Amino acid sequence: MKIDIVSVFPEYFDVLNLSLFGKAQEKGLVTVTAHNLRDWTHDVHHSVDDTPAGGGAGMVMKPEVWAECLDDLLGLAPAVIAPDAVSSDAHDDDSASVSPSGAVNSAEAADTTDAADSGHAGNPTDAAASVTSIVSDTTSDTSEAGGNAAPVLIFPNPSAPLFTQRDATELSHADHLLFGCGRYEGYDARIPEYYRAQGVDVREYSIGDYVLNGGEVAVSVMLEAITRLLPGFMGNPDSIVEESYTGGNALLEHHQYTKPATWRGIAVPPILTSGDHGKVDRFRRDEALTRTNDIRPDLIEQLDCRQLDKQDRKT
Ligand code: ADE
Repeated sequence: MKIDIVSVFPEYFDVLNLSLFGKAQEKGLVTVTAHNLRDWTHDVHHSVDDTPAGGGAGMVMKPEVWAECLDDLLGLAPAVIAPDAVSSDAHDDDSASVSPSGAVNSAEAADTTDAADSGHAGNPTDAAASVTSIVSDTTSDTSEAGGNAAPVLIFPNPSAPLFTQRDATELSHADHLLFGCGRYEGYDARIPEYYRAQGVDVREYSIGDYVLNGGEVAVSVMLEAITRLLPGFMGNPDSIVEESYTGGNALLEHHQYTKPATWRGIAVPPILTSGDHGKVDRFRRDEALTRTNDIRPDLIEQLDCRQLDKQDRKT
């Protein structure tokens, strides 16, 4: 799976080098490139936002910068060469490098940024390179991937429909995901509208009923939920099948216990150590139903009754 992330904080995604995600990159299951949106700006301040139409607090991310970036990464327009990054010959230091778009970026370009409000720090290309393998041409890479190569463009947005396990499962079948991280008061609504009109599969998702400072955390959450479903990502694939929110009937998971059988006076439920697998399954199913009913009655209401067995109806 090819994953592009656009953010004014690409360094945020350095953590993707760690843990299972880092291993998945090493195994070639995922290729992640974190891009700095400011690489597609042309003004001296590398500005990405402007005041809201109609007034109000805060700033809104401008459509022009996003469009140059997204056209480039989606292969909808010729690669855009930033005016201050014409070719590696033009630089007499060794900080220039090739971006995934084919444009040449430089530390110098990033360092001129007046980004006191953004926390934009250092060379964004370095951040991208530390997370990823750099791909020189988005369009040809996508076509080589074969299968369902049409990219899905995803914007985290607190005002969008909730991202669920069902969405994670669906998106785990895509070959190419492109995430756009908003900041400030969000992004100009014409951006998703325009790309939908171009035939791009555009999704906007909230990860919960609370407001974050930007889309980076939300993208990290979605990315983990999606990629851990990729075949070969998890050490033990069974752990995915048995989890909460998985399968046709989404129930919260039963409690988990390990050794010792009694700890600080609290015993593991005896059925779990009885060796009777039928009884263990029944106990866990009952616990899942009871917990879901107590904690998330909305999930019980969504259950497909045809998938409940007679024993379930008694609980
Ligand atoms: N950006 C800010 N808050 C968010 C949320 N809850 N979900 C997705 N994106 C966000």
